[in-house]
Amino acid sequence: MNRFPCLALLALLSVPLVTGNAAADWPDLLRAWTNWRRPPKPDVVYVPTPDDVVDRMLQLADVSKGDVVYDLGCGDGRIVVTAAKKFGCRGTGYDIDPQRVAESQENVKKHDLGDLVDIHQKDIFRVDLSGASVITLYLLPRLNTRLIPQLEKLKPGSRIVSHQYDMPGVEPEKIVHYTSREDSVVHHLYLWTIPLKKTAAGDEAKPHGSK
Ligand SMILES: C[S@@+](CC[C@H](N)C(=O)[O-])C[C@H]1O[C@@H](n2cnc3c(N)ncnc32)[C@H](O)[C@@H]1O
Repeated sequence: MNRFPCLALLALLSVPLVTGNAAADWPDLLRAWTNWRRPPKPDVVYVPTPDDVVDRMLQLADVSKGDVVYDLGCGDGRIVVTAAKKFGCRGTGYDIDPQRVAESQENVKKHDLGDLVDIHQKDIFRVDLSGASVITLYLLPRLNTRLIPQLEKLKPGSRIVSHQYDMPGVEPEKIVHYTSREDSVVHHLYLWTIPLKKTAAGDEAKPHGSK
């Protein structure tokens, strides 16, 4: 049996006894302990973008060899792998879920793209995006909006493409409705170019099709 977790918990619980502040410290310490043991929780579930929609997203972002594509919440890594394979550009995928990270890394390996693509297990709200020239998203409207402060640090001319969801608070430059050959569903694609154009206060854009 691994005794380290038990010893660590014991050590944590004995701190209040030493400091003499048991009432205040124990709940905090127990919360810290459970957070440490809890696996990171994705803000949105994994749903892959169909391959032909990935192609359309990269086309909409006008990706070329000189670009650096970041996929925020990269799933199985298909967007950055496709970008590197088709255009020879660099790519970085971030996902919070270790299973997705392992799948992405496997995908990169399978296509022998280790020189161009790297994958990291990170929370997308804690990453520096300044190295990217293209950002791809398939999240949710409120998560897209939460990314605005990070996206505003991108270089002028950088493009952001979102599959399915708008980014309430900023005006899209273009919206494309594309019917996938894979699932026969109409997919909505949104394009923004840096600098972002803020919508008037309170004039919040809605996800496509919602009231
Ligand atoms: C809808 S899937 C999109 C996958 C991929 N981008 C695609 O289009 O095929 C969203 C992904 O975001 C990841 N995710 C959710 N919250 C995250 C967070 N805070 N940081 C990093 N990844 C996150 C999920 O694990 C999931 O793989």
